[in-house]
Amino acid sequence: MPLLAVEDLKTYFFTRRGVVKAVDGVSFTLEAGETLALVGESGSGKSVTCLSLVRLVPEPAGRIVGGRILLDGDDLLAKNPRQMRRVRGKQIAMVLQDPMTSLNPGLTIGTQVGEVMRLHQGIRGRSLRERVVDALRRLRISAAESRLGQFPHQFSGGMRQRVSSAIALSCAPRVLIADEPTTSLDVTIQAQYLELLKEVQAAAGVAVILVTHDFGIVAANADRVAVMYAGRIVEMGTTLQVFNNPRHPYTQALLRCLPDVDLKREQLVEIGGQPPDLAALPPGCPFAPRCSERQPICERSLPPAVTVDAGHTAACFLAVATPA
Ligand SMILES: Nc1ncnc2c1ncn2[C@@H]1O[C@H](COP(=O)(O)OP(=O)(O)O)[C@@H](O)[C@H]1O
Ligand SMILES: [Mg+2]
Repeated sequence: MPLLAVEDLKTYFFTRRGVVKAVDGVSFTLEAGETLALVGESGSGKSVTCLSLVRLVPEPAGRIVGGRILLDGDDLLAKNPRQMRRVRGKQIAMVLQDPMTSLNPGLTIGTQVGEVMRLHQGIRGRSLRERVVDALRRLRISAAESRLGQFPHQFSGGMRQRVSSAIALSCAPRVLIADEPTTSLDVTIQAQYLELLKEVQAAAGVAVILVTHDFGIVAANADRVAVMYAGRIVEMGTTLQVFNNPRHPYTQALLRCLPDVDLKREQLVEIGGQPPDLAALPPGCPFAPRCSERQPICERSLPPAVTVDAGHTAACFLAVATPA
């Protein structure tokens, strides 16, 4: 049994403009210690997928309307809010894009890192202080002891992101969700942070869902990739399968957008056309209007996910299984 199994997850927003199908039938599994990258253009449903997993979809407009989220076989969608708070404190933790918004500017770093341990593990006093220093040291915050009394604004962006991660990891979660955790960091700090995360992950056997729109980050950090488009996973496979043999025209287009160092092409190529309006999806494949390989059937029906290779799927009428 996989550590996490998401089955046909649907999360909609009920707005005045209509029903926005932000996540519309997402399924994937995650094994302990594994890193799954979620990639796709902005607005494709990556963050809403993550928020659904921890049941923090903004209510009342947003609602999980279908599917199952099985953590060790236990359905998170069947839990009440109190049980869900325990899951968030102990089993699934989340690191957000901007550490400044997740840290409280008015509380010291020591208090904030210690809070989860105090609330969820009941640790108090001197042993709490020791655990906090330990958590910060593991994330390579130097002079941790003397920095406990400092506030977030006294830390650099990279250090704040490491503090947020120390908080997220302090409850020893089984799954860590990192939603564009490095977007606000500069490139060198990004790489350092992700290396560190990998080390901590390997040591603790934590499974990671890493949201990013940066394929360089995917290549260096993910075991598997799920490509999202219009609230669905359109292609999924190991990082090698998806990079070396992309089978969905959208993935192919995304990979063509990468700056090509050899050709000294400085600018990113953009995919032509706009992502679809999730409140008014066409009846066929949502990528069809932008797809250079569009066939008549693509505008009429939704392509199902086809297994093109062991562990590699693509939701495209043109995708066929690779002959053995
Ligand atoms: N609070 C909300 N109310 C209405 N629509 C929302 C809300 N949050 C997200 N959405 C919609 O859900 C879709 C997916 O958003 P999101 O998951 O944030 O995309 P991504 O993280 O891939 O950039 C978008 O079309 C967005 O407009
Ligand atoms: Mg997002």
